[in-house]
Amino acid sequence: MNKTVLITGTSSGIGRATVTYFAQQGWNVAATMRSPQKETALGAASLGALPNVKLFRLDVMDTDSIRQAITNTIATFGRIDAIINNAGYGAVGPFEAATPEQVQRQFDTNVFGVMNVIRQILPHFREQRDGTILTVTSMGGLITFPIYSIYHGTKWAVEGFTEALSFELKPFNIRIKNIEPGAIKTDFYDRSQDVLTKPGLTAYDEYVLVAMANSQKAGATAPGPEVVAKTLFKAANDPSDRMRYVTGDSQTGMLLFMRRLLPLTWFHGIIKSVVEKSYKPATT
Ligand SMILES: NC(=O)c1ccc[n+]([C@@H]2O[C@H](COP(=O)([O-])OP(=O)(O)OC[C@H]3O[C@@H](n4cnc5c(N)ncnc54)[C@H](OP(=O)(O)O)[C@@H]3O)[C@@H](O)[C@H]2O)c1
Repeated sequence: MNKTVLITGTSSGIGRATVTYFAQQGWNVAATMRSPQKETALGAASLGALPNVKLFRLDVMDTDSIRQAITNTIATFGRIDAIINNAGYGAVGPFEAATPEQVQRQFDTNVFGVMNVIRQILPHFREQRDGTILTVTSMGGLITFPIYSIYHGTKWAVEGFTEALSFELKPFNIRIKNIEPGAIKTDFYDRSQDVLTKPGLTAYDEYVLVAMANSQKAGATAPGPEVVAKTLFKAANDPSDRMRYVTGDSQTGMLLFMRRLLPLTWFHGIIKSVVEKSYKPATT
């Protein structure tokens, strides 16, 4: 019997590429998204036109939609073998510029959204004594970069949450696997970004301009989302207890390796030399 995966946030980027890749490899795919009607409107180019792919509405902040998507997936394909928590976005800019609502939405989507989906799938996985929970976190869940403090807060929270969760789920043969992409060329750097600005707050402008430009450059020259889809597929088929899978360009693995090796101040020197390149603080 074909295996079945349910994936969140499949309208673009990593989620979309992952639907295509898993379907090509013979899996059944529940491709979930906030607005499946937009996808259906694409006709032959729609993910729903792929064999063994079904579209379901799922907003990670709407528990009813999660419950309904899981029920519909089991009714369609018989069971779920793996879920992929992929939906997410980045708030970018100085923390001081963020409203409480922006911070809340970032955590609602990237952290509580992941918890919402896991909470709903656990009864099914416990009952069948088998299941894999994959989460697209980020290398930004293990290291940090300037002007992404809120985003990093969410991804570090997910890393801690899922790592601890793996202890209590192991007796039920439920595996936790986190995928740690470096920069990947997707809408993450474009329409999905929440750029943090506050009227009248100009003190960070020069710094943000430089850090933002360097971060955008990293996104523009990064590998495409297919590389993450392949890593997700490898992880979904890995029965071992391995928890983390780094993916992206060669720099990603190198940075994480240096973080383990170097004192934090040295490591931050490297990050600054890249992200703050050409930034000259005004002398007062
Ligand atoms: N690109 C990178 O450099 C990079 C690096 C490391 C980690 N990541 C992580 O990879 C994941 C996917 O991002 P991406 O790069 O593929 O960016 P993307 O193309 O912008 O995709 C983000 C997806 O998340 C969906 N989404 C946002 N809020 C949602 C919600 N409340 N419920 C359901 N879906 C929601 C979006 O759907 P809509 O179309 O409805 O907005 C979209 O399909 C994110 O978790 C991101 O943090 C990305």
